[in-house]
Amino acid sequence: MKYYVRTYGCQMNVADSDEMGRHLQARGLIPTEDPEEASVLLVNTCTVRQHAEDRAFSEVGRLKKWKARQSGRKLVVTGCAAERTKAYLENRFPHIDLVIGAKAIEDFGRAVEGLLERRETDEDLEYAIPMSGDRVSAFVTIMRGCNYSCTYCIVPFVRGRESYHPMEHILSEVRDRVAEGAREITLLGQTVNSYHRDGARGRGTDFADLLENAGKVDGVERLRFMSPHPHYMTDRVIDAIAAVPEACEAVHLPVQSGSDAMLKKMLRNYTREEYLALAGKMRKAMPGMTISTDVILGFPGETVEDFRQTLSLIREAQFDWGFIFKYSAREGTPAAAWESYPEGLIEERHQECMAVFEEVSRLKRAALLGTEQEVLIEEENTGRTRTNYKVSVEGNVATGEIVRVRITNSDRATLTAVLADRQKQTEGLEA
Ligand code: 5AD
Ligand code: SF4
Repeated sequence: MKYYVRTYGCQMNVADSDEMGRHLQARGLIPTEDPEEASVLLVNTCTVRQHAEDRAFSEVGRLKKWKARQSGRKLVVTGCAAERTKAYLENRFPHIDLVIGAKAIEDFGRAVEGLLERRETDEDLEYAIPMSGDRVSAFVTIMRGCNYSCTYCIVPFVRGRESYHPMEHILSEVRDRVAEGAREITLLGQTVNSYHRDGARGRGTDFADLLENAGKVDGVERLRFMSPHPHYMTDRVIDAIAAVPEACEAVHLPVQSGSDAMLKKMLRNYTREEYLALAGKMRKAMPGMTISTDVILGFPGETVEDFRQTLSLIREAQFDWGFIFKYSAREGTPAAAWESYPEGLIEERHQECMAVFEEVSRLKRAALLGTEQEVLIEEENTGRTRTNYKVSVEGNVATGEIVRVRITNSDRATLTAVLADRQKQTEGLEA
């Protein structure tokens, strides 16, 4: 019996899909890339913006036909949108067999038990292979939920309060992923650097300790984490990122806005100056690092001046790249009660903001031309630098290999490069 997973949304959802997949594999199911081969289909939904939710729900609607094509097929809808709209989904789409909200992901195994109760077939035996993954880069969830209440954000509603996995569980999961072939581990959490505890507070059990311990796991070549909150980016955490050799010099630190008025209204718990000071501190500790960010445009009440503040912050912080989100009102959040801007105006700001990000990123990338970088190959000659630039490498390099390359073109977001040693050899021959 095979299963297929369709994932919408953030890395947290990708990690949840992996986790649910492991539950299914433990029950003898095997993953497939082709929904037509699947008997169980999982749609893991996202609700952070309306658009994400709409896309997932229209897929769920289309799957009525998939289900009808073969008897016994099961459709499971999970994730954040499932948490938010469980009753609606069950009424609107009676062809769904099971709805499991984001808060119940850790109970997924038990929840699917009834659904999958069935006689073992020969086919099961044939496919009863040990679980294995072949991903060079793997996610490990270290905490769930969020204790913040950013006024635009639905996450605390659908994922609940913060809960932390015990350090030992995390480390053993890291070991499992490495045993399956991972060389890079990304630690995940909604405010990943608020990680703390393991039963007791303040006894070597915070995020900095976790970085140190995860770095020491045999076979971990690279460590990343997503997404930190500026408030928890303490000196101790910055020092650990700088000191742990495996921790990569790349931090994605969502700022959301460059205007103090907006940051206050969003309840972000830092000011523009504090954010800039933090960025400066990180760059001082790790020269050459990359800092990327998220910004929201068109938050209720965002004046032209507030918007300009975001543009100037992008230049001042020298972001290496950034993701721009058009504000989307989420029912139940405080900001949903405030008047939103028309789509057209947000789109105009989006275009302008994209141009500023591109201008700054382009200069950053230009500085990389001709430099040597270490690239971990993730698939078909493509990999990432430690600073998280995507690089397409000329020549034949095996997936999972770490190679030294020289950057030959940095015009686009994906850089191109040649193997550094190979270039030296050619230069040697020419001389
Ligand atoms: N509207 C637009 N963007 C949002 N984000 C979170 N909630 C909303 C919303 N209601 C963005 C934030 C966050 C990223 C994952 O999604 O920028 O960092
Ligand atoms: Fe949402 Fe804010 Fe929590 Fe991030 S920190 S998940 S934006 S509430």
